[in-house]
Amino acid sequence: MMGFILIAVAVLSLLSGGWSAPVTNCDDLTQIIEIQGREQLLGRWTNLAESTNTSGSGLMSSLDVGGSWLKHTATNESNTIDVFEAVKIFGRCYTSRSTKTLKNNTVSAEQPKTASEVLLKTGCPDCLVVSSKYTSGQGLQFLSRRNKVTAAEMEEFTKQVECLNLPSPVIFDSDKGFCPEESTKNTTDLNTATEEDYFKLAGDILGSEDVVKGVLESIFSSLVDLIEED
Ligand SMILES: *[C@@H]1O[C@H](CO)[C@@H](O)[C@H](O)[C@H]1NC(C)=O
Ligand SMILES: *[C@@H]1O[C@H](CO)[C@@H](O)[C@H](O)[C@H]1NC(C)=O
Ligand SMILES: *[C@@H]1O[C@H](CO)[C@@H](O)[C@H](O)[C@H]1NC(C)=O
Ligand SMILES: *[C@@H]1O[C@H](CO)[C@@H](O)[C@H](O)[C@H]1NC(C)=O
Repeated sequence: MMGFILIAVAVLSLLSGGWSAPVTNCDDLTQIIEIQGREQLLGRWTNLAESTNTSGSGLMSSLDVGGSWLKHTATNESNTIDVFEAVKIFGRCYTSRSTKTLKNNTVSAEQPKTASEVLLKTGCPDCLVVSSKYTSGQGLQFLSRRNKVTAAEMEEFTKQVECLNLPSPVIFDSDKGFCPEESTKNTTDLNTATEEDYFKLAGDILGSEDVVKGVLESIFSSLVDLIEED
């Protein structure tokens, strides 16, 4: 059984464009860098790609995601940052506000979920690679001052994700547009979201062929895992 699965995986990797080059310099790619100070984090960032292994995050990869951005604003407490985030999913905007604290080279958040973040080394001159630890998993986020990065820059991020054994990242599609900062008709503020808002999102999700396919694929792959364990 094991042999068959290995052959199937090999065939699939060939079909999907051949073997990826082995990543050998993971020590370098996962090196934590020093945060120069709060100033370095402030302002608007485009969220280009993100990978997390918390439960349920696999679904994200099958959603129709558009542009995503966030803005860090200084508060009058010297080490605290207000965060505003906006992401387009199925043409609808979802926004949220939270607060983070920079201390001892680590950015911490309490709400909406506890997270501690450090920055990893990157060859991209105007990017941040944010490595996050949550209570239920880990994540890596790729932020830039630009709305698009080069293929080489995105490839470096993808390698960092591989080095950390995280699932392949969700790429936010800047071509589908960004949400405005001001709330509009199609915006749901997740800080004050109602049950109805979640039903709308659930409706969008269930109405999407890609998502249904994604869910079936994940069920299928867990079956394969079960068979493999026998
Ligand atoms: C921030 O500064 C304003 C005005 O200077 C003050 O009213 C407010 O209480 C301060 N907030 C905090 C959290 O210190
Ligand atoms: C709101 O979103 C829907 C898709 O969910 C889109 O068809 C519609 O044009 C949007 N309306 C506005 C005002 O952006
Ligand atoms: C600061 O961070 C370093 C490395 O992550 C850790 O070893 C040290 O204990 C931390 N210091 C404080 C005061 O939290
Ligand atoms: C998430 O990834 C990290 C790093 O590879 C790993 O230590 C952790 O166990 C993973 N968590 C889950 C829930 O898969």
